Amino acid sequence: MSALIIGNWKSNGSKETNKLWIKDFFKHIKDDAESISAICPPYVYLNQIVDLCKRSNIKIGSQDIDFSQGARTGSISAKACKDLGCNFSIIGHSERREFFKEDNLDIRKKLICAQDNNLKIVMCIGEPIEVYDSGTTKEFLKKQLIDSIDGLDLFNDFTIAYEPIWAIGSGKLPSSEEINVIHLYIKDIVQSASKNNFTPKVIYGGSVSSKNAEDLFKEDHIDGALIGGASLNGKEFANIANIYINRGH
Ligand code: PGA
Repeated sequence: MSALIIGNWKSNGSKETNKLWIKDFFKHIKDDAESISAICPPYVYLNQIVDLCKRSNIKIGSQDIDFSQGARTGSISAKACKDLGCNFSIIGHSERREFFKEDNLDIRKKLICAQDNNLKIVMCIGEPIEVYDSGTTKEFLKKQLIDSIDGLDLFNDFTIAYEPIWAIGSGKLPSSEEINVIHLYIKDIVQSASKNNFTPKVIYGGSVSSKNAEDLFKEDHIDGALIGGASLNGKEFANIANIYINRGH
């Protein structure tokens, strides 16, 4: 099964705090919640984390990949991530789009490259607050999706993370009913735009914590969560995965 509760540590962690995180996580995670959990540490800690988790079922992913390899100073290839033991990579996070000026076509190239290297992908999309306020979220998401996946064969548990930009790190999020409607819409678009009519899992990201997880996971089309801030604490992250496993559908 693919990972559905994913912790994105962003540019956080140290050799010491990583060890404490792992101890805390394994102390609190329920057996069947382990195999649907994943963490994405900074690249430089991938080796350490893969090693610390080698006797477990938690998956390890990278936070991004480059769309090529070779003469591209400072970048990390899909092939290298596979080689280090990554099961998947996130692409298209709004922080990559905003701070590193990545656009939908770059993300399309990353997706193609990952699939060529047999690396699973979690592709992030999401609207800024002005778009949400103007009621045009669906149109905005449709363009992100079409530009990045139109006409492609999708496979390997391809997953979308819906992350409204204004919900990231803000403590504010849409209602779970609103998110559910958007997830169903995303599934429909991907199904009709992909060459092989693929229906992806759609996970939600943006201010997820153990306080709102139960409410989110009761929805039929919220298939998991991408978690930033709350994933930095091993116990809190394990609790969210445990809530997911007990969600009752
Ligand atoms: P957050 O971040 O959980 O801290 O809101 C989510 C993300 O950026 O993926």
